[in-house]
Amino acid sequence: MLKSKIAGIGAYVPEGVVTNNDLTRFMDTSDEWIQERTGIQERRYGKKFEETTSTMGLKAAEKAIANAGIDKEDIDFIIFATLSPDYYFPGCGVLLQRALGITKTEVGALDIRNQCSGFVYGLSVADQFVKTGMYKNVLLVGSEMHSMGLDFSTEGRNVTVIFGDGAGAVVVQPTEKEGQGIINTKLHSDGTYAEKLAMINPGSHGGYHAEKLEIDVDYGYSDAEFGEIFVNEHMVENGQMFPNMEGQFVFKLAVQKFPEVIMEALGDAGLSPQDIDMLVPHQANLRISKFVQKRMGLSDDKVWNNIQKYGNTTAASIPIALAEAVEKGAVKEGDLVCLAAFGSGFTWGSALIRW
Ligand code: UT7
Repeated sequence: MLKSKIAGIGAYVPEGVVTNNDLTRFMDTSDEWIQERTGIQERRYGKKFEETTSTMGLKAAEKAIANAGIDKEDIDFIIFATLSPDYYFPGCGVLLQRALGITKTEVGALDIRNQCSGFVYGLSVADQFVKTGMYKNVLLVGSEMHSMGLDFSTEGRNVTVIFGDGAGAVVVQPTEKEGQGIINTKLHSDGTYAEKLAMINPGSHGGYHAEKLEIDVDYGYSDAEFGEIFVNEHMVENGQMFPNMEGQFVFKLAVQKFPEVIMEALGDAGLSPQDIDMLVPHQANLRISKFVQKRMGLSDDKVWNNIQKYGNTTAASIPIALAEAVEKGAVKEGDLVCLAAFGSGFTWGSALIRW
């Protein structure tokens, strides 16, 4: 069987810098609290009405395509991971295909809704397509325009201060070079705690899960028979269309699952943490990354963190961080690179790559 490699990589972050102090204009928070709890100093917000998840994805994709030294017409499959799509449907994959101006209709477009682990899931899918010989150039994009859908009141502060906008992309191709390429990917899920980090509206649940889980929330459906269930004024008025998170609960599972899934990938490949040249964790919280680093016994130069500048960009965080590490020369040919993510779902995963 063939092996696949990341042949090109690129990232895009919008120009608009939003500091922690900027957020204090809208909500009761402080630079001190945000830095101490998350490590975040600032994040980027896209230009409203000019930038979207797909336009940022396009910019990252163009860089990845150029970096791979191919033409956009060479792309034969698109995978787009995001939790903040331009439209509820259709997904961003087709919007990217249109924006790239790819003329052939043979190109498939797949959207992935795996939140923080979306990029790792996408990489695994790309890897399978390439390894089997079905596709030669898979374009994988992770992009998020969080700033359009956050609660900027004090009520939403625990979620809002964390997130930022941005995009990253890779081109996955077959490789024949001995030892090079994606070694393995490990994917997991546990829906038991789906609502612990979620944006449940708009949606077709009609309060179903809340009833089963005995969650006391008034969704305002009253006696609606047709319509107004997917989305209604009540949801808007009561702030039920924002993401919410039980931060400490998520934190505790994250620090358990990150090391677990990294060890799983290493063990499967007969490797140990000491073999890792660069760990690029999903940038969820600097405290989580530091915890994982300590657990793995890795030195500072073997873990890439840039959450300080960009916040948590969900599906985009790994490709943005990886692109930066590659650009700065911190990831070189022959290096063992480990990607790992955990987030909403819960879903989590890892990927081991010989660069
Ligand atoms: O990427 C997807 C996966 N997501 C994650 O991995 C996130 C995991 N969780 C976390 O990163 C952390 O739980 C947070 C950064 C979200 C929160 O930090 P925490 O240390 O767990 O704080 P907390 O939620 O326990 O809140 C502590 C206090 C509360 O006040 P009281 O009840 O003690 O008076 C909050 O109301 O901090 C308050 N608080 C804030 N204060 C100032 C919450 N958010 C803020 C804020 N500014 N932005």
